[in-house]
Amino acid sequence: MAVTLERDGDCAVVTIDNPPVNAASHAVRQGLMEAVATCDADPAVRTVILRCTGRTFVAGADIREFGQPPKEPHLPDVVAAIETADTPWIAAIHGTALGGGLELAMACRARIAADDAKLGLPEVNLGLIPGAGGTVRLPRLVPAETALTMVAGGKPVGAAQAHRAGLVDEVAEGDLLAAARDMARSTTGDEPRTLERPVRHPADADSFAAQKAKLIAKARGQQSIEAAVHAVARALELPADEALAAERDAFLELKASDQSAALRHIFMAERATLSDPRCKGRPHPFGTVGVIGGGTMGAGIAAACLLSGLTVILVERDGEAAQAAHERVSSILDQSARRGIVDETMRAAIGNRFSAHDGYAPLSRADLVIEAIFEEMDVKKAVFATLDTVTKADAILATNTSYLDVNAIASTVADPSRVIGLHFFSPAHIMKLLEIVVPDRVADDVVATAAAFAKRLRKTAVLSGVCDGFIANRIMSAYRREADYLIEDGALPADVDRAMRDFGFPMGVFEMQDLAGLDIAWAMRKRRAATRDPNERYVAIADKLCEQGRFGRKTGAGWYRYEDAKPVADPEVTALIDAERARKGIEPASLPDDAIMDRIVSAMQSEAQKVLDEGIASGPGDIDVVMTSGYGFPRWRGGPMFMKARQDAGERA
Ligand code: 3HC
Ligand code: NAI
Repeated sequence: MAVTLERDGDCAVVTIDNPPVNAASHAVRQGLMEAVATCDADPAVRTVILRCTGRTFVAGADIREFGQPPKEPHLPDVVAAIETADTPWIAAIHGTALGGGLELAMACRARIAADDAKLGLPEVNLGLIPGAGGTVRLPRLVPAETALTMVAGGKPVGAAQAHRAGLVDEVAEGDLLAAARDMARSTTGDEPRTLERPVRHPADADSFAAQKAKLIAKARGQQSIEAAVHAVARALELPADEALAAERDAFLELKASDQSAALRHIFMAERATLSDPRCKGRPHPFGTVGVIGGGTMGAGIAAACLLSGLTVILVERDGEAAQAAHERVSSILDQSARRGIVDETMRAAIGNRFSAHDGYAPLSRADLVIEAIFEEMDVKKAVFATLDTVTKADAILATNTSYLDVNAIASTVADPSRVIGLHFFSPAHIMKLLEIVVPDRVADDVVATAAAFAKRLRKTAVLSGVCDGFIANRIMSAYRREADYLIEDGALPADVDRAMRDFGFPMGVFEMQDLAGLDIAWAMRKRRAATRDPNERYVAIADKLCEQGRFGRKTGAGWYRYEDAKPVADPEVTALIDAERARKGIEPASLPDDAIMDRIVSAMQSEAQKVLDEGIASGPGDIDVVMTSGYGFPRWRGGPMFMKARQDAGERA
């Protein structure tokens, strides 16, 4: 039974039990409708408590039903039935009340939440807006500004914030059900229904207009965000019934859109990445993590581990470098405290779990060691040989290499089955993606441990086979190469960057290179020059920029010139490009933005297909997750492989 009803004196307790997240599936909706009728028909029932079993309150409409024909009762009908019931309903919220779950709760006469509960309307993240009255009820409970942020931003708020805003009436610190029963006893039934309340208009019309404009600008083409902004604005202006009808129409239209299909695909693909049976095994302990190298990546990795409650032993080359690494990690932790990711007490306590050293001996205590030193095979091999002698025999040894052969690194230790790749993205404490690189001889329980470690760090992890650049950097190299060809063929860096931004990337490929610095890739190209296929098309423009000391933002010039930290197209770069085209006898073509993006996306897709054919990635969903989480491919387009499947289906039709 998805919904059960128990009597407790004059109170009825309606419990939803629909694992894993109590989604409002058809059985739940039907059960709730029946519960409303039963309670209203029983004069002995004075109040109804709505609660859930398991780890969470209702986490939303059932996404898995979205592809099927809708079945009555629909969620808005259930929400309306609860709101208009003669007997007042009280929502007792634990875990997360999301989307349709919060809409159910908002239809209740009152809400009580556990102190660690979270409440939100995340529909925009699935390419939707709330479809069961969320945009209309929320601004009747919380100020318009908060409602707008919650509906268009999609981020949940904690119980305390929800209480301050007016979304919940009480926060329960102890037993939620007991507190809900107390609340039920003091409920008179005269409390206003949510839709009877007036909307809470913005305090300042101008700043509200600015807030709306900012959200739309940030949407970068994502329709649901713009629709969410309009829905909240309508709710503030129109009578409730008209706003509800308009919300439902917009919801149904978005539900049928390509963007929502794409975002739902990514949602599901992210949850399916570690379905390989090797990830399900029993993990080793990993409470103490060693990190070797405390530069950009090592410091970020150390901070990510510390913020997840793990102990970190960081090792650097010498005392000075260890001190610098310690400061780098501390500064990331301070930033995290400033951004509210950890509170001050936790921040202070983290220090007890962190130490930086200039020798390898402390690593004898580590369960897992992650190497993040310079990208040089010989140096890495030497470090792994040392690790073999200082670490526990069953400690897991991981490398954060971006491109190097993890099989070759593994071969330097006596037991290669304990070596794996953990490829983080920069900044490692922020970026969600983690590639777990699986070498030939790794043990299954080491893969399981890497998967558990990724979950602990709340990363979105994918398995990758060993190849140059793994999944993400290999595909990125391919589209970067295509971007170079585009420059020689007639586009300018600003054209490519604009086309990519308009497509939905946060940044174009040339702006990104300037930000990261051109020198590292230049050094790699020089290293590989001797082994490069002489018949392969090679674009030398980036090399020429580097020869002039133009390494990007850090030197004030790269693909662009920087004025007040802002990129400006540089005639010197244009002249250099013209000269290269002339040298190669290339007549520049006119390349409209669509043509630029067709070529960039096709380059991604064809390299991704090779990655799949070679078994480097487990499936097209993993590629889409990598490109959206790692390289800013717009989520609302679903990723390159989702686009390809759609294109292929379009061609077949
Ligand atoms: N419907 C169906 N299944 C859902 C679901 C939903 N709304 N939300 C999560 N699930 C499934 C996941 O697919 C996953 O299934 P799996 O175990 O088979 O892979 C399982 O529940 C557990 O999910 P997570 O791995 O994400 O578990 P977490 O504990 O990390 O997170 C969560 C739980 C915070 C609830 C997260 O799953 C989440 O954010 N879910 C989506 C919430 C959402 O977007 N709700 C709005 C839906 S649209 C809506 O309500 C429309 C309405 O306005 C009309
Ligand atoms: P970095 O140059 O910022 O840091 C490297 C650190 O390693 C330095 O602090 C150095 O002192 C230390 N180090 C060098 N040899 C050492 C040794 N033998 N023992 C202890 N410490 C030693 O480099 P970065 O960018 O952090 O890169 C590190 C690794 O991470 C490389 O393999 C790189 O390819 C990879 N990587 C880099 C990413 C990036 O965006 N920078 C992204 C993902 C992976």
